[in-house]
Amino acid sequence: MPDIAAALATAKQALRSCTDSHDLEAQLLLSAVLDCDRTHLIAHAEDRLASAQLEQLQNLLARRCRGEPLAYILGWREFYGLRLSVNDAVLIPRPETELLVDLALEHLPQQLAAAPRQPPPATVLDLGTGSGAIAISIARHRPDVQVMATDLSTTALQLARMNAASHALENISFHAGSWYDALPETCAKIDMIISNPPYVAAQDVHLLQGDCRHEPSMALTPGDDDLACYRSIITGATDYLLSGGLLLLEHGHDQRQRLLALLQETCWESVQCHDDISGIARVIMAKYNPDHSR
Ligand SMILES: C[S@@+](CC[C@H](N)C(=O)[O-])C[C@H]1O[C@@H](n2cnc3c(N)ncnc32)[C@H](O)[C@@H]1O
Repeated sequence: MPDIAAALATAKQALRSCTDSHDLEAQLLLSAVLDCDRTHLIAHAEDRLASAQLEQLQNLLARRCRGEPLAYILGWREFYGLRLSVNDAVLIPRPETELLVDLALEHLPQQLAAAPRQPPPATVLDLGTGSGAIAISIARHRPDVQVMATDLSTTALQLARMNAASHALENISFHAGSWYDALPETCAKIDMIISNPPYVAAQDVHLLQGDCRHEPSMALTPGDDDLACYRSIITGATDYLLSGGLLLLEHGHDQRQRLLALLQETCWESVQCHDDISGIARVIMAKYNPDHSR
């Protein structure tokens, strides 16, 4: 049987034609097989694999070379420094979505530690939570905030609940249903609504490429009208946001101007646009003002 160094070299070679990150991916797959971290591969380079381990590695390499996303093979993806379980019921959280979390954490009202009587906790609603990536990151960084996470997919919600439990979060609740229909009737007004909804038009060729081929289509596309989910979310937000509350939306690179036009139609002010780290138009943020007139 090969030692770890030889198995790693073979894995890198096998992955060379199917991914640009063959070095890293080879390490991650071998670590998964050996149930160890990546430093172990270097420190124990001369340890030999058992035949069952070699067979398992070959199996994982074959799945990756057939195009299966690395995150689904490993069963996890890191987002905002947290390891989250993922499976083919959820979108694989993208690094560019971390911008939404940065902005949410920057703009959530701060709890005043010295206040004589604490106000009720600030509330955040994450619409279409998938693996729970956005909601869980916010809940983890702001234990004083109450986070509600919704999804139409009950299998996605099941995984999101598991992820919240694995990070021992108690300030997050999960609700199944389409957008605001998921919320309890008694739901109080909310400080912040955040969403990374499906926004790729059904005819977009990107749906036929890379990881998207394996991700649930309900997580990626709303159908022919790429803005359909934004229309529902923006219109409904006015029933649920506190006056002065914020709406934060991730969007596609070519949707900024059309979203700005949508926000013009209703009671929004202080609209801000943000690019992601690659300089691509990515997030739009607006403040709800019910008295704002055009
Ligand atoms: C682009 S994914 C975002 C997942 C996660 N928030 C993230 O950023 O990784 C969109 C999510 O919206 C959910 N979704 C689609 N239609 C919905 C609807 N009508 N109501 C609620 N959630 C919906 C999908 O199931 C999916 O989990």
